[in-house]
Amino acid sequence: MIDDLWYKNGIFYCLAVGTYMDANGDGIGDFVGLTRRLDYLHGLGVTAIWLMPFQPSPQRDGGYDIADYYGVDPRYGTLGDFVEFAHGCKQRGIRIIIDLVVNHTSDQHPWFLEARRSKDSPYRDWYVWSDKKPANANTGMVFPGVQKSTWTRDKEAGAWYFHRFYDFQPDLNTSNPHVQTEILKIMGFWIQLGVSGFRMDAVPFVIATKGASVKKSVEQYDMLRAFREFLQWREGDAIILAEANVLPQTDLEYFGDDGDRMHMMFNFQVNQHLFYALAASDTRPLAKALVATKPRPASAQWGLFLRNHDELDLGRLTEAQRDVVFKAFGPDKDMQLYNRGIRRRLAPMLGGDRRRLELAYSLMFTLPGTPVIRYGDELGMGDNLALPERECARTPMQWSAEPHGGFTKSDKAASPVLDQGPYGYEHVNAAKQRRDPNSMLNWTERIIRMRKEVPEVGWGDFEVIETRDPAVLIIRYDWRNNSVLFVHNLDEKPREIAFATGLADDSGRLLINLLAEDHSRADKRGRHTLVREPYGYRWYRVGGLDYLLRRSDVDTERSAKRTRKAAHPG
Ligand code: NOJ
Ligand code: CA
Repeated sequence: MIDDLWYKNGIFYCLAVGTYMDANGDGIGDFVGLTRRLDYLHGLGVTAIWLMPFQPSPQRDGGYDIADYYGVDPRYGTLGDFVEFAHGCKQRGIRIIIDLVVNHTSDQHPWFLEARRSKDSPYRDWYVWSDKKPANANTGMVFPGVQKSTWTRDKEAGAWYFHRFYDFQPDLNTSNPHVQTEILKIMGFWIQLGVSGFRMDAVPFVIATKGASVKKSVEQYDMLRAFREFLQWREGDAIILAEANVLPQTDLEYFGDDGDRMHMMFNFQVNQHLFYALAASDTRPLAKALVATKPRPASAQWGLFLRNHDELDLGRLTEAQRDVVFKAFGPDKDMQLYNRGIRRRLAPMLGGDRRRLELAYSLMFTLPGTPVIRYGDELGMGDNLALPERECARTPMQWSAEPHGGFTKSDKAASPVLDQGPYGYEHVNAAKQRRDPNSMLNWTERIIRMRKEVPEVGWGDFEVIETRDPAVLIIRYDWRNNSVLFVHNLDEKPREIAFATGLADDSGRLLINLLAEDHSRADKRGRHTLVREPYGYRWYRVGGLDYLLRRSDVDTERSAKRTRKAAHPG
C-alpha cells in the first residue's frame, strides 16, 4: 500500500527533450540522446521524469502549441524512439509523466484549420467563436505585456476566436462532448504507450466555461472527476498532476473532497511564499501558506517546486512582499516578466551562493509534498537573459567542458548553450561535478537518497513548531509512530535556536542528525538548543536507536525493582 501510491514520495525531474541531449548531431535534443542519459538520471535517484510537450508543434510556445496529439515531433525522433525511451525507463524503475495540453491547440492543428474553413465544419464547434468582437476581448490575458488580447479575428473564418494564451493557441471548446471524448482518447493513447500519468496544463482554464457571452467564467469541476475516472479504469496507478495556480480555499475543489479528482497539484501558494521567505528571512507567511494548504485527501499530494520552465510567478503575494522578492532576486527590469514574476534560474537568483542553494533545496525536499526538480538545477545551472521571455531559463543541459557543453556535436545548437560567465558550461557541467565529491550534483544525489529514507514527509501529518525567531522554520512530521524534524535558518547570520519537539511523550529528547554527527539531546525541561550557521539546515530523526536503548535500561531497572519487591515483600 505504501509504495502503491508511488507519487506520494517520488523524486520528479522535469526536462524538455529538445534541450537535454542531442544524439544525431543536428543541434536539437532527441529521444535517443535522452535515453542514453537515463543512467545519469537513475544514478541521481530520480523516480519519475516529467517530459515537457514533445508532440509535433510549430514550437512558438516551447511546444505548448500542439499540432498533433498522437505523435512525436520529428525533430525529437519517432514514436519508435519514444517507446524505446519508455522501455529504458521501465528497466530502471523510472516512471514517465507527460504534459497534457488540452486547453488549446496550435493554430496549425488540423482541427483548427478545418474549423476556420467553414461554419459547417464538424470541427467548428471544437473552438470558441464570436461573430463580433466581444466586449471583454482585451481582458484576461495570461501574458500581459506580450499578449494583447484574448480574442483575435480570423480572416478565413470571418469570425473571432478565443485564446486564453497567445493568439496562435486557440482555446478548445472543452464543454463540447466531442472534445471531451478526444481528451480521454489522448490520455488513453499515451497510457497504452507506458506513461504513468499527466501534468495537466492550465487546468482552471480547461474546466472554465468559455464564450463571448461568458461574463465571469465558472469552473466545471465535475470534468476533473471524469478525467480521473477514465484514467483509473485504463491504468489503476496512473495520476494527474494539475497545474492550477489557485487560492487555498479552492484546493479541495481540485483534489475532490473524497480524493476523486486530481491526484496531485503544484503548490504555487507555498512556492511564492517560500521565495518571499528566502528573500526576507521571514518564514511567517510561508508557515501560514503551509497551514492554509494542509487540508487535502489522504491519497492526494502536493508537487513542491522552486523554479520551473515559466517565470517565477509572484502574483499571489502582497505588493509589498512582491517588491521584497523583486529587490532581492530580480532587481533589473530585464529579469522580470509579465508584471508579476522573475524569469531567472535559481542559482543566479541566489547569487550562486552554495549555502543558499542547499538551504533552498533542503526546504524543497522537506516541505509537505513530492519534490519536482528542474533539469540542470542539480548542477546549479544559470540563465541567459539575452534570450526572450521565458526562454532565458531553458538553455541546453551542460554535460561537459566539450564544445556546446557536450549537448550536441553539431557546430550550432538550436538553442544556444550557456557559454559565458560563471555559469558557462566550462565551469558548470555534469562531468566536472561528477568527479568532485563536494559538488552540487553529488550533494543533490546524497540529499535525494536521504529524502527517500524519510517517507514521513510524503505520508505524514505535519506541525510547524513555534519559535520566536521568524528567520527559522522548524517542521515535524509524524507517521506510524515515527517522527522526523527539520530545522532551517533562512538568515545570513548564525542563530541560536531553542525549541521543544512538541511531542507528548519524551521520545523527542534525542534528535538524531541524519546528515552529520552532531545529534541533539534535550535539557531537563525537554528543550533543545542548537546553533545554526548562516543558512544552516538540519534533518533529524526523532528518538532513534540510542533513545530506545536507554529506555529499555530504565525499563529493566524498574522491573528488577519490582522483582526484588516481589521476592521481599514489605
Ligand atoms: C502553462 C505552461 O507552463 C506554460 O509554459 C505555457 O505557456 C502555458 N501553460 C500555455 O500552455
Ligand atoms: Ca537531434
